[in-house]
Amino acid sequence: MIDQTIQSPTLSGPPVSRWWGCFPDLRRDTLGFLIQCQAYGDVVKLPMGLVVELFLRQRDAAMYVLNHPTDVKHVLVTNQDNYRKAPVPPVESRIFGQGVLHTEGQIHHHQRRVLLPFFHGNHVTAYSNLITSQARDRVALWQDETTIDIGQEMAHLTLSVIWRLLFGQDLRSEGETIREAIAVGQRLIKLQYDSLLASVTPLWVPIPRHRRFTRGFRMIEERLFQFIHERRMAAEPHDDVLSLLLSATDTEGRPLSDEEIRDELMTFLLAGHETTANALTWTWFLLSQYGSVRERLTQELNEVLGDRLPNAADLSRLRYMKMIWDESLRLYPPAWTLHTRLAHAQDRLPTGAVLPPGAGVVISPWNLHRNARWFADPNRFDPERFSDEAQRTRPAFTYIPFGAGGRRCLGESFAEMEGLLILATIASTVRLHLVNGQTIRPEPVMTLRPHVPVQMLVQRVEISAAHPPVA
Ligand code: HEM
Repeated sequence: MIDQTIQSPTLSGPPVSRWWGCFPDLRRDTLGFLIQCQAYGDVVKLPMGLVVELFLRQRDAAMYVLNHPTDVKHVLVTNQDNYRKAPVPPVESRIFGQGVLHTEGQIHHHQRRVLLPFFHGNHVTAYSNLITSQARDRVALWQDETTIDIGQEMAHLTLSVIWRLLFGQDLRSEGETIREAIAVGQRLIKLQYDSLLASVTPLWVPIPRHRRFTRGFRMIEERLFQFIHERRMAAEPHDDVLSLLLSATDTEGRPLSDEEIRDELMTFLLAGHETTANALTWTWFLLSQYGSVRERLTQELNEVLGDRLPNAADLSRLRYMKMIWDESLRLYPPAWTLHTRLAHAQDRLPTGAVLPPGAGVVISPWNLHRNARWFADPNRFDPERFSDEAQRTRPAFTYIPFGAGGRRCLGESFAEMEGLLILATIASTVRLHLVNGQTIRPEPVMTLRPHVPVQMLVQRVEISAAHPPVA
């Protein structure tokens, strides 16, 4: 029931279309529009327009952008039980099914409990040798003075790693087809978020983009079911996510069905490689633009590693590299917005705004991370923002690349270790220069990726010769 006694300060927001609400502006320039919202206060109201109101039969339908970290903490942590994820477009639920990314309540808690041990502590570090050797093998293919598409290279690398984590096997020729199917799915998800018509057109309507999507995803699904069946028949135990899922039970104590296992595997396949690949791609891009940061990184790698490959134990000593990684995730958070949350009941936020039941809450790491209130000169790349001292002076919840609360990223520790080991391995071997004449802009699709392929020129480095070890 709505508590009529609670008074909310009037919330403002940018002017939007009466019929179409904020959607035309969001579609035209999503990232710019979110930043523009910062000027309208801690909580910004974005009306969804008359068309959506008629469609949903809901008066005053609106989304609320949170710009203040205490409100972010309230929604994601303190009062998280009052919020659930908003329904997603048909193509997104077709892909992820009932995997941990989209379930709610008891089922979601249970799935996290089952999966969490796999992604923590020693279990994660056990993969460090695999990651560095995959990175070393990939970089060995890059010829000196040739050009590579760094986004594609990073995606191939992180897909190979997650494939091993999930199935305990090397990725073979299926890599390219899988990448292509994922790209088609991403474009369709974006379209369904952007267009009401696209989002209400069922996937069985045989238009070319639906057919392309269905073809690609059936292929991935068939491969996943094949893995599940083969493994059910296999006698010997394996240490991978597939085996974990095969031995897991649901909330009623029953073994998981093939479909339930497929949903989790698909979730990890997608959530677990594209994000890390984009984080790395942006980091290479930034390093190519900031020569002095790259110099300092080279020096640190030289001091800590000399000419050997990194391992998980080195990471605590590669402090500057971690600051680079954090700053790159600040400027280009792969999860540029969290899933929209819907309020069950009316809720008063710490900054005073009152959200009505059914309010859609937008929490965008992109927007929070580029707010000049918490990050001076926010568009500048400056790893010093992540020195211990600088971090102590900043309020919590201003930096949330992995989300927060009960839905915080399950793969955070793994992603961080993987990203840092790949950075250290590659940066010790080559220098990457952005090929002249490219302008790179962030494009917000399922993840935040460069709007065009990022071409990099490879230059091999002899670390010990170029940078003698510091005594
Ligand atoms: C740099 C890399 C990554 C970033 C920036 C990232 C970011 C995020 C964020 C922000 C969320 C929360 C979404 C929300 O609250 O709406 C999330 C959830 C999730 N991530 Fe990641 N992620 C990364 C890598 C990974 C990896 C490597 C895996 C798996 C191996 C993974 C698995 C998941 C899963 C399963 C969830 C759903 C958790 C839940 O709802 O309980 N992520 N990720």
